[in-house]
Amino acid sequence: MIGKSGNKHLFLTGYMGSGKSSVGLLLSKQLSKHFIDLDARIEESEKMSVAKIFKEKGEKYFRNKESCILREIIRNPNLTVIALGGGTISDSSNLKASLDNGLLIYLEASASTIVKRIKKETVERPLLAQFKTDTDLLNFIETHLNSRLVNYRKADFTIDTNEKKRDQIIAEISAIINLNKS
Ligand code: S3P
Repeated sequence: MIGKSGNKHLFLTGYMGSGKSSVGLLLSKQLSKHFIDLDARIEESEKMSVAKIFKEKGEKYFRNKESCILREIIRNPNLTVIALGGGTISDSSNLKASLDNGLLIYLEASASTIVKRIKKETVERPLLAQFKTDTDLLNFIETHLNSRLVNYRKADFTIDTNEKKRDQIIAEISAIINLNKS
């Protein structure tokens, strides 16, 4: 078991491109736990991509769905590694639900690190698809990331992922889990 409430889940939060999904998948294998990617669950449930949901149904619809599916996942009695979406905990009730049901870890990455990681993959990211140059992308991410920091910083732990390889990030998360075993 992990988490201060002696229970269940490990939640990974962080901006788009912070490595939540790739780190989460590898970590779940290492811990022999289930891995759930919240965006993938939403896509399964809606039978369309996140980009298409934003386009056809709008962001508000997506956010409602995100909150509902997060609650369904949390109800799962087995310990699960969960990669949240970059905007999930901007909703304070989602933040509280994550903090109350496990350990919430913020994968921190600077705006310039994020641009390096995702500049070739903005098409599938509806909030970033409109930015055509690296400078426009960086300017937007700096401001947007800043506006989200207040909630990201409420996570139980923060891991600086800048300049780090995935293995090192996973080792740091494993150390936190070991320290917080109940
Ligand atoms: C979003 C992040 C995306 C996805 C959606 C909105 C956000 O998830 O949920 O495009 O608001 O930051 P990733 O962080 O997994 O890319």
